[in-house]
Amino acid sequence: MNRKIKVILLGAGNRADIYASICFERPELLEVVGIVDPDAVRRELMRKKYSVPSENCFDDVSELVKREKFADAVINGTMDHLHVETSIPVLEKGYDLLLEKPFAVNEAEMNTLVEVARKYGSKVVIGHVLRYTDFYRSIKDRVLAGEIGKIISIETCEHVNYHHMAVSYVRGKWRSEKICFAPMLLAKSCHDIDIMLWMMRETQPVAVASFGSDFQFGAQRKPEGAGERCMVDCPYVDECIFSAKANYLAAPRWKHYVWKSLEGDENLTDEKKARSLMTDNPYGKCVWGFERDGNVDHQTVIINFANGATGTFSMIGGSAKSERNIHIVGTNGEIKGTFEDSRYIVRKMVPSSKSGYEETVYDLNEGGDKIGAMGGHGGGDKKLILDFIDYLNGKELSVSCATLEDSVISHRAVFKAEEARKSESIVKIST
Ligand SMILES: NC(=O)c1ccc[n+]([C@@H]2O[C@H](COP(=O)([O-])OP(=O)(O)OC[C@H]3O[C@@H](n4cnc5c(N)ncnc54)[C@H](O)[C@@H]3O)[C@@H](O)[C@H]2O)c1
Repeated sequence: MNRKIKVILLGAGNRADIYASICFERPELLEVVGIVDPDAVRRELMRKKYSVPSENCFDDVSELVKREKFADAVINGTMDHLHVETSIPVLEKGYDLLLEKPFAVNEAEMNTLVEVARKYGSKVVIGHVLRYTDFYRSIKDRVLAGEIGKIISIETCEHVNYHHMAVSYVRGKWRSEKICFAPMLLAKSCHDIDIMLWMMRETQPVAVASFGSDFQFGAQRKPEGAGERCMVDCPYVDECIFSAKANYLAAPRWKHYVWKSLEGDENLTDEKKARSLMTDNPYGKCVWGFERDGNVDHQTVIINFANGATGTFSMIGGSAKSERNIHIVGTNGEIKGTFEDSRYIVRKMVPSSKSGYEETVYDLNEGGDKIGAMGGHGGGDKKLILDFIDYLNGKELSVSCATLEDSVISHRAVFKAEEARKSESIVKIST
């Protein structure tokens, strides 16, 4: 029987809220007992939502750690560049930690965090939620069982649809390394590199090359005559695929990002939203009006492994539909599937058959495991927090669990891939 885990939300934003909300479904497993967030509106919203006593709410982690330890763990949902500096004080205080990805924005701070966690013997789990989805976990189990033999090649790709690209990586919080310190490969696709390297655990990545560019954005690509703000001065407002009017008013997309500046207003009308997009809301600005600071909108990574296997990953920001694909070819067979379909195929070599192979389709929808019906990230969000609770209760590490040390493998590969892209060279990866 699990004991109830008490947690403090450090950065009580969207992600921390998602993990913490398991307490409404499973109140016997998790309780939110503290909040740290400098944003007074957020802090109060979350304080009320989770019925946290006011004396356990703080505007800075330094205030939290002045108090005696009063919880088992901290869920750190601050933004990427704050992960290490806000995690160190809580690890030093003896808290275990669920930390969002990317857990560090460069190798130096990655190494610092690992050292501190080792020193204090802390349990640190990273938010690699995709590993917990039935799709990836089921494929991983087949790889572990040796169903396709030794992996020769693994190809993965992530298509980020055009409105996701625009809201997060052009207009939003991850629009520039100068603001968030994380290039798109790290912010968006460290999950995908993690999935690749998790599938390839029998060997290690030893070298990486990478190419990418900003194909669609930047001032030089702005359509002639386009305005500064979609709903103020742009003649293309009703035809542009990135129109703020179409994406955020007519369609209610990405509301947790777009209406952040209006948070706390309980009477949020369309008029107020329109005024916001027409005045000071960055999401109302033309997508071609942002500094790009060398950011890419698509990137390919090629990895060489110690045993001679190879892997490729492509991130394409600007597709019609978001989609993740995987194709693993092994010495005895192959696995190919699309995450959003919750379905994959296993093919085995069978020389006696007409086609030379036999295939089996695994449709996870049939077991009621439909992506989307399962909550965030195909159910991965919920399974990760439940697994974290198990881990803190002394249960054995699950196959899906990404501990800090485990996640170092993919973070390091991402840092090296960025180095390779920027230096236009092949970069060695040493462990
Ligand atoms: N695992 C996933 O699939 C996944 C998905 C999306 C985002 N993320 C990651 O989750 C993290 C949070 O993203 P989000 O969208 O929830 O962000 P958010 O902006 O909604 O939340 C961040 C919160 O941190 C607070 N904050 C800022 N400075 C702080 C400080 N010094 N101390 C404490 N709190 C502070 C902010 O006020 C805000 O409430 C990011 O690192 C992001 O990359 C992970």
